[in-house]
Amino acid sequence: MSSAGILPLLGRVAAAVSEAIVRVRPEMADADPVVRRSDRADFQSNAALPLAKKVGMKPAQLGGELATHLDLTDGVIADVQVSGPGFLNISLTDRAIWESVAARLADDRLGVPATENGHRVVIDYSAPNVAKEMHVGHLRTTIIGDSLARVFGFLGADVVRANHLGDWGTQFGMLIQYIDEHPESPWHTEELGADTSAVSALDSLYKAARAEFDSDPSFAGRARTRVVALQAGDPDTVARWREIVAESEKAFGAIYDRLDVLLTPDDYVGESFYNDQLADTVAELVDKGVAVDSDGDVVVLSEQVTGPDDQPVVLMARKRDGGYGYDSTDLATIRYRIASLHADRLLYVTDSRQALHFQLIFEAARRVGWLTDAIRVDHVAYGTILGPDGKPFKTRAGGTVRLMGLLDEASARVRAVVAEKNPDLTAVELDTIAEQAGIGAVKYADLSTSRVKDYTFDLDRMTTLNGNTGVYLQYAHARVRSILRKADATTLPTVDTAGPLEPAERELALVLDGYGTVLAEVADTLEPHRLAGYLYELARAYTTFYDACPVIAADEPIRSNRIALCGLTARILELGLGQLGIAAPQRM
Ligand code: ARG
Repeated sequence: MSSAGILPLLGRVAAAVSEAIVRVRPEMADADPVVRRSDRADFQSNAALPLAKKVGMKPAQLGGELATHLDLTDGVIADVQVSGPGFLNISLTDRAIWESVAARLADDRLGVPATENGHRVVIDYSAPNVAKEMHVGHLRTTIIGDSLARVFGFLGADVVRANHLGDWGTQFGMLIQYIDEHPESPWHTEELGADTSAVSALDSLYKAARAEFDSDPSFAGRARTRVVALQAGDPDTVARWREIVAESEKAFGAIYDRLDVLLTPDDYVGESFYNDQLADTVAELVDKGVAVDSDGDVVVLSEQVTGPDDQPVVLMARKRDGGYGYDSTDLATIRYRIASLHADRLLYVTDSRQALHFQLIFEAARRVGWLTDAIRVDHVAYGTILGPDGKPFKTRAGGTVRLMGLLDEASARVRAVVAEKNPDLTAVELDTIAEQAGIGAVKYADLSTSRVKDYTFDLDRMTTLNGNTGVYLQYAHARVRSILRKADATTLPTVDTAGPLEPAERELALVLDGYGTVLAEVADTLEPHRLAGYLYELARAYTTFYDACPVIAADEPIRSNRIALCGLTARILELGLGQLGIAAPQRM
């Protein structure tokens, strides 16, 4: 199948309404046909309401005229009724609906157009900080970024996964100095494995170093000298820094493997990568008049945002001591991604507290001319994960919650749920499924929540079988697969497009037809919860269908037609869960 895809039925109805609008009022050619699914018919168009005002007609009268001019001859629309204040209730022919099922089933992309073909999308996500443990905040960026990478990848984009590690900065001078002065520290004495223990050790060392830095001025002095040594490329200092980065990367890698996300070691392009671009970046900002001197600091003064003192908010391009910080690096980063990576779209997945930072970076990049209208840029902001007390999720002692421990717990809980439901599974099967479902539960809880909202990390709720959970959707998928196995449906069934169409089949088919539309929405809004909501709706439509319509016991052609619906449901559930980064086991 070509990457052009299959036009969804909703799109065909919208096109037909648009044509009717032109027939009635040629000057309204650009008007939105306002078509959506409806409870009263297959689709509803509300176009007449806003248009009537513009052309000075009563909505009901305009609705009537649109209905008269709607083309019913091409076999898609079967009927149109004008209701209430001028809505059009539009029903499709059974044949058009079966044809969409057949065509999607026959296509390996299920008819979804590769709308992102030829676009390079740089997704900045995960980005944990070296020498610190990954915490629950990094869980969100990792999961959301992974889902967006998968959706854009499926839509044909050339996705660059940019893991902007916090691997640079003055804190490393302090840490390295501390490690060198403490030969008894676990960094020297312990066998550091491939798991996260090295990073726990680093995390404690980091805290100890910070305490000494704050309390002992002479240590602070030596630490500052170390920063200079690191920046000047002193071989011993750089070697130690590399060790620290490598251990941290290993630990992050262990979490990525466990989470089953797409990130690989090749995607680590940390802050240090931009180090030798910082001077040029700042020079360009100064040359073009975007960055200015302020008591020795080089800053970009916002033209859009003022602070509480009514003064423009400041982006620090270079500190007066010559140092570069987080702002400087992000200026160099956006410049690099546009000029060298030729990005068409830039996404930054971080928590919403960084909204102002990115707004300022984007503004500066626009003013200096790197960012043009041809490039789309978004801060993909997300809310906070809350603990049971409704406050940001912390351990009882107030520390960061360790990710690995959370994932262990999730998978143990699901193991119990699955074992009870399916006692026939072998221990090995159970282990695999528990891991897939446990990780899936955590991801789904995150991705099914509107991104900008905070949510409570509640393992009980995440792992329940009945409700809008990852486990529920995985079960729904496994159930469909089991029916397909029983029906022995190894080959694609032939759909009889003249066959009858029950209401539950109709509803399911119309939901199936909307998959590509939802993916396009996710790419546009960067909101994976729309896909999660869609999959939940699909699973429910399938359940209603399955309760009302026997599959295996039905006579032909009904049996084959129903198997086709099952087959398409299974594939969309599997593909859609996959785009949320969630595995879809064949049995559970
Ligand atoms: N390392 C940062 C943190 O943990 C996130 C970096 C996000 N990406 C960026 N280009 N600033 O908060």
